[in-house]
Amino acid sequence: MSYPFADVSERSLAELLSLEGRTAVITGGVQGLGRAIALRLAEAGAQIAIADLDPKKATDAAAAVESEHGARAIGVRMDVTDSETVRTATDEIVESLGGVDVWVNNAGVFPSIPVLDMTDEQWDDVFAVNTRGVLNGSREAARRMTRGGVIVNVVSTAGFRGTAPGLSAYVGSKHAVRGMTKQMALEFAPNGIRVLGVAPSYVPTEGNMAMAEAAMAAAGIDAGNMPAAMTRSLIGRVGTPDDIARVVLFAASDLATIMTGTTLLADAGETI
Ligand SMILES: NC(=O)c1ccc[n+]([C@@H]2O[C@H](COP(=O)([O-])OP(=O)(O)OC[C@H]3O[C@@H](n4cnc5c(N)ncnc54)[C@H](O)[C@@H]3O)[C@@H](O)[C@H]2O)c1
Repeated sequence: MSYPFADVSERSLAELLSLEGRTAVITGGVQGLGRAIALRLAEAGAQIAIADLDPKKATDAAAAVESEHGARAIGVRMDVTDSETVRTATDEIVESLGGVDVWVNNAGVFPSIPVLDMTDEQWDDVFAVNTRGVLNGSREAARRMTRGGVIVNVVSTAGFRGTAPGLSAYVGSKHAVRGMTKQMALEFAPNGIRVLGVAPSYVPTEGNMAMAEAAMAAAGIDAGNMPAAMTRSLIGRVGTPDDIARVVLFAASDLATIMTGTTLLADAGETI
């Protein structure tokens, strides 16, 4: 069996970083990390599809990406928990943009629920987005990546260790995604598809602030001390969405051709 990964050693740095001629799908790209990822991939030359729950917000976010970087961008409605909407939205993307080369499984939820209070439904809801969503997205992406491609799973340092109280479903789901990243890399390699995880530590985003405040309250920590309490950063500050987006760009680009199946910690040294 031949594994179709070209040796790109002779290419210039600019060529290796460029995503010209490629199309990137970002799930949950309306806000937070996904929005920053869409902007950097567009700056590198990719056409962008922002796939999120609310089609109006997805279209508005795509318009903002297009006006900032000039790359073609569209917004589509996609609920990653529902394989049917993932399939139909991907059909729409392929029809509008001509294919799929990079797929970023970024959509995620992180409700704070202590183990003793957790219902079956609450547990399943977290896994439906954070793990089945990755399965749905990756499966549809791999089916369309007829010329090879890259799948990037946004994991978390919660995929490596326990974190704040209340996040058992989240921690379990992100450990699962790290495992799925290894297994999908193995299964998709013959199709020229690399699969990588990127694991951020705490980065303030729209969705994350609400979770962090709830987790701090559960731990009895004053919300005013939240950034210091949430991070053991070695770089003197918490990460920004763009810090994470630049690592995703590296993973998606040909600079990282040698890498598949692993999860890159983008954590300011917090997990050492
Ligand atoms: N912010 C952090 O500190 C941090 C750290 C580690 C990992 N992460 C991971 O990064 C990813 C993004 O986090 P964020 O902080 O930007 O979150 P966010 O809540 O700000 O944004 C999440 C986006 O995902 C979308 N989404 C939610 N459920 C969806 C579904 N079923 N289908 C499609 N879209 C859906 C939301 O509408 C939203 O636009 C998540 O996977 C999260 O676990 C975040």
